[in-house]
Amino acid sequence: MIFRKAVDSDAGRCLEIYDAISDWEATMGKQCCWEKEFYPTMETVKSGLSAGELYVLEDEAGQVVSCGIINHSQPEFYKLFDWAFEADFSEVLVLHTFGVEPAMQKKGYGKTFMSFYEKMAYDAGCKTLRLDTVISNKKSQALYKKLGFTTTGQWEGDPNQTDRPLTFIGLEKILPPEK
Ligand SMILES: CC(C)(COP(=O)(O)OP(=O)(O)OC[C@H]1O[C@@H](n2cnc3c(N)ncnc32)[C@H](O)[C@@H]1OP(=O)(O)O)[C@@H](O)C(=O)NCCC(=O)NCCS
Repeated sequence: MIFRKAVDSDAGRCLEIYDAISDWEATMGKQCCWEKEFYPTMETVKSGLSAGELYVLEDEAGQVVSCGIINHSQPEFYKLFDWAFEADFSEVLVLHTFGVEPAMQKKGYGKTFMSFYEKMAYDAGCKTLRLDTVISNKKSQALYKKLGFTTTGQWEGDPNQTDRPLTFIGLEKILPPEK
């Protein structure tokens, strides 16, 4: 499997994954609460691409099955969470807008993407991983807990201006010190 920075030609496939998740949610029930026309959109994909912060995971056949945005940018509401320690922004690697194509879920790709994200942070000398998910997202919470993340608080709001306030949970994983 290959984990790499996305290039312009991945934009359509990344949006396809995000839209497939939104479609799945519209029929199967809300988990991450994404909605095609609100979030994530092509604008989300393009801003991740132009910042060089959009990453993809390819399966053995070379098909992109998962994507997410990785950077040092902590949303404003992270200030309200009870993080284990104060860290400089450069010491924190944040994962946003992470998803696996619905047809490819439950095959270990989510865990694999997360292990590359963790390695990237470790190699960059970061001290901790931080991310958020919505309270209804039981699948992602199960994944993050399994990987050793702990919760740091809850916040209700509408950071993506969707007119649909949601309850967000902060999660963190402290990385072992560099050898
Ligand atoms: C959350 C998500 C990324 C997991 O991806 P995945 O490829 O299915 O995950 P994996 O196959 O690696 O599974 C890893 C663990 O996640 C949890 N998990 C995954 N799918 C689950 C489900 N349907 N129900 C309960 N737990 C689930 C389990 O703990 C699983 O471990 P196990 O296989 O040993 O039981 C995927 O469900 C997804 O894209 N969801 C929609 C978008 C989303 O919620 N993104 C996260 C935003 S914060």
